[in-house]
Amino acid sequence: MKITVVGAGAVGASCAEYIAIKNFAAEVVLLDIKEGYAEGKAMDLMQCASLNGFDTKITGSTNDYTKTAGSHICVITSGIPRKPGMTREELIGINAGIVKTVSENLVKHSPDTVLIVVSNPMDTMTYLAHKVTGLPKHKIIGMGGALDSARFKYRLAEALEAPISDVDGMVIGGHSDVGMVPLISHATRNSIKVSEFISQERLEQVKEDTKVGGATLTKLLGTSAWYAPGAAVSGLVQAIACDQKKIFPCSTLLDGEYELSDLCIGVPVVLGANGIENIVEIELSTAEKEHLQKSAEGVKKTNGLLNL
Ligand code: 2OP
Repeated sequence: MKITVVGAGAVGASCAEYIAIKNFAAEVVLLDIKEGYAEGKAMDLMQCASLNGFDTKITGSTNDYTKTAGSHICVITSGIPRKPGMTREELIGINAGIVKTVSENLVKHSPDTVLIVVSNPMDTMTYLAHKVTGLPKHKIIGMGGALDSARFKYRLAEALEAPISDVDGMVIGGHSDVGMVPLISHATRNSIKVSEFISQERLEQVKEDTKVGGATLTKLLGTSAWYAPGAAVSGLVQAIACDQKKIFPCSTLLDGEYELSDLCIGVPVVLGANGIENIVEIELSTAEKEHLQKSAEGVKKTNGLLNL
């Protein structure tokens, strides 16, 4: 199993590290445009192999896509991260050109790859990847919902004063500060609806804290987060690499599902060896349906900024 991660910055390197530690992949190629940077990160990570007990071979490349040839899965983290006060959508001017070039180069050397897009504005970058690569839609996945759901569970556990292992919850919709749809109606504490334990007012606060989870960290860190984004995308990679048939909320091209079409947005999907095995349509509350429709309007507005 060969995996390529483009972008050896904090998110990409964290993703490569988590993939290696999970020890399911034979090879990870870390690629960056900055001279020697990916090679250095790969060497540093490989010097953890005896310490963290993995056999995965991590190599680095400075912008040589021939080294990525034959990758089963390619992850795109390249592009600029946001600064405090910025929205993810403001990154489109720079990141769209980067994601276009990277996508084209990856598919040229790995025509059968599954592509996972992390770069922001992620839903629009995922849509762009469809337009520039022509890969079948089940092979292009946007990672946002897995991260947002992890933040949702973190906030729910905080409100419940419960261990996170007892909490389950999912966020669908756009990966944006205003477009996320935390599914309160489906969230549980060990199979019991969270509304049995938390007031509606407190649940509203959990939803709002979840939606700005990324911005909260950007304000604290001065740049975008990287540990949870890296961990989230490594979970998608593992589900595909190991054909786990696990359900994650992922940004995928919709063609009528959830009454939406011609956009990529976060919905529950089953991930396996083929990438998106199928889209799962679930019952949503009236409010959740309205939020998802409004979120889709926001994503389409950002898509409109692409020079396609
Ligand atoms: C985040 O929410 C980088 O979009 C990513 O942290």
